[in-house]
Amino acid sequence: MYTLPNLPYAYEALEPNIDVATMRVHHDKHHQAYLDKFNAALKNYPQLQAENAEDVLWNFESQVKPATPADIQVAIKNHGGGYVHHSLFWKTMSPNGPREAVGELAAAISSRFSSFAEFKTQFTDLAGKHFGAGWAWLVLNEKKELEIYSLPNQDSPLLSKHYPIMGIDVWEHAYYLKYQNRRPEYLEAIWNILDWKKIEERYQIGLNKS
Ligand SMILES: [Fe+2]
Repeated sequence: MYTLPNLPYAYEALEPNIDVATMRVHHDKHHQAYLDKFNAALKNYPQLQAENAEDVLWNFESQVKPATPADIQVAIKNHGGGYVHHSLFWKTMSPNGPREAVGELAAAISSRFSSFAEFKTQFTDLAGKHFGAGWAWLVLNEKKELEIYSLPNQDSPLLSKHYPIMGIDVWEHAYYLKYQNRRPEYLEAIWNILDWKKIEERYQIGLNKS
């Protein structure tokens, strides 16, 4: 059984950028619901319960291990994706981390996007234009190059063996209580709470992932 990770800060810690009411319903209700349905799908598959949850998605179509059983593929994609993505999301924000890329990731972003400011512009633009529910992603692709794109619903970069370094939730449940239909305001505020030390740690994990 997978479990709901506690937030690594208080529910109100990301105010005013993300309000306490949104954090409570997003973590305690939405994330919990993804977790419950993910665990229910894995009930008869103890070998999948024993893995790192990210690896359940990473190995989804693996030729090395048996592929994900057909009867739970949809549930794994939707609820496993939702569980893993929200776990990642909480960890890559904080009330006091560095607000621009640091270390080797800073160099990689500058090399790929010309500057952090240009990366921020491109990422915000694609997150703003994503139609409907989904996530905007910064990933390491199979060549260990940085890429940005958005995916619908809880479809995961991990299914393509792209390692997600950072993701922004653009489902309405992530911002509607405070921002209503003003997604651009939410996307501007999110840069005030991203923790680039944590994102750099994921970058290092992704570089070593095989
Ligand atoms: Fe969400």
